[in-house]
Amino acid sequence: MRIALGVTGGVAAYKAAELARRLQQDTFDVEVIMTRGAEEFLRPLTFAAITGDKVIPGMFGPSDSGPANVESAIEHIAVAQRIDLLLIAPATADILAKLAAGIADDFLTTLYLATKAPVVVAPAMNVNMWEHAATQENLARLRARGVRVVDPDEGYLACGMTGAGRLAGHEAILQAVREALSPRRDLAGETVLITAGPTCEDIDPVRYLTNRSSGRMGYALAEAALSRGAAVVLVSGPTSLAPPAGAGFVAVRSAGGMNRAVGQHLEPSTIIVMGGAAGRHPAGPWAPPKGERGAAPLPAGCPPWSRARTGGPPASCSSPRGVGASPPAASSGREMSRRTSRNRPTSPRRRSHSATADRASTVQPGMPSASLSRAKSSRSRRASAVRPW
Ligand SMILES: Cc1cc2nc3c(=O)[nH]c(=O)nc-3n(C[C@H](O)[C@H](O)[C@H](O)COP(=O)(O)O)c2cc1C
Repeated sequence: MRIALGVTGGVAAYKAAELARRLQQDTFDVEVIMTRGAEEFLRPLTFAAITGDKVIPGMFGPSDSGPANVESAIEHIAVAQRIDLLLIAPATADILAKLAAGIADDFLTTLYLATKAPVVVAPAMNVNMWEHAATQENLARLRARGVRVVDPDEGYLACGMTGAGRLAGHEAILQAVREALSPRRDLAGETVLITAGPTCEDIDPVRYLTNRSSGRMGYALAEAALSRGAAVVLVSGPTSLAPPAGAGFVAVRSAGGMNRAVGQHLEPSTIIVMGGAAGRHPAGPWAPPKGERGAAPLPAGCPPWSRARTGGPPASCSSPRGVGASPPAASSGREMSRRTSRNRPTSPRRRSHSATADRASTVQPGMPSASLSRAKSSRSRRASAVRPW
């Protein structure tokens, strides 16, 4: 198998030399492409000596200042067609931005657009660069397109700071390469219904209750299920994430909406993963607008803490109906669960399970790969409720 190893201009470029050797030990043929930035950190000769092959530098030949020739000008297409995988390690913030935007101003970025091979990137950079919203948005866009991202390790960085940004270990990168080349298809034929993100429960025209769920776990689960061959329906509350390419996507806002969407997509699903942090106390019809607090009674069903804030009369909260008989199929977030557990005799975990227990078996919670274990329920329509927390 042939791998194009793109090396970009970061401090970790020197680690790519050892990585190239490890890839060769794994019997891959390695072809190295260096950006001009990378050449500031390492000479192409290092890779040429390791791989026994020439290193592809600029777009127009050995030197961008030298004359172009037809062979080098069309080489990116030839490389794009002959490789089985494109690995970029280390990947700078700059290259991630270019890939996300579709910029093709050098050999590596042009190759990225020209190849149909799977792409793996292993970013490495200063922790602030890594955490910057621009970088994270670029990564989300790349992930949504099917690019595998090997997240950097945390630790002491070359810039003197500590945090996430160190190039991931060679074994983690190799593992991602192996998975990208021979993805497990053990979920082929399954339909996985996943809830993700928070919900917003409107109290009145300006206020709503929500939680801090980012949705990342549900989206990552959707990605993992897709890569393992499943059809995926992702039901998501409001997040800043881009849904993975290939997933059916249902955007919802409230717990009731999430509940209804789950109900609507329950039928073809063979696996259900409740990753969403649905609010447990839908506010129901709007309470009186701000400024008229206490003027009118609250709708029946509001919980005590809601009553305290609005000054309205005592009431109890009605649960949305749909999947099962209890509150929204997806359980509330941890924060909300803790709050509600004081008011409810039944623990939030048990109640959230009961939402689906009448028609689904339970698979033990675990990490994404374990969470996606196939259902073995004879009682249900082969649907499993997985609580990954
Ligand atoms: C000493 C030095 C170290 C750098 N280290 C990194 C790094 O680790 N990660 C990164 O994203 N950019 C780093 N940069 C910035 C990149 O070199 C710069 O964005 C460059 O344009 C990247 O080009 P390329 O992506 O085409 O290789 C560094 C710059 C300098 C001068």
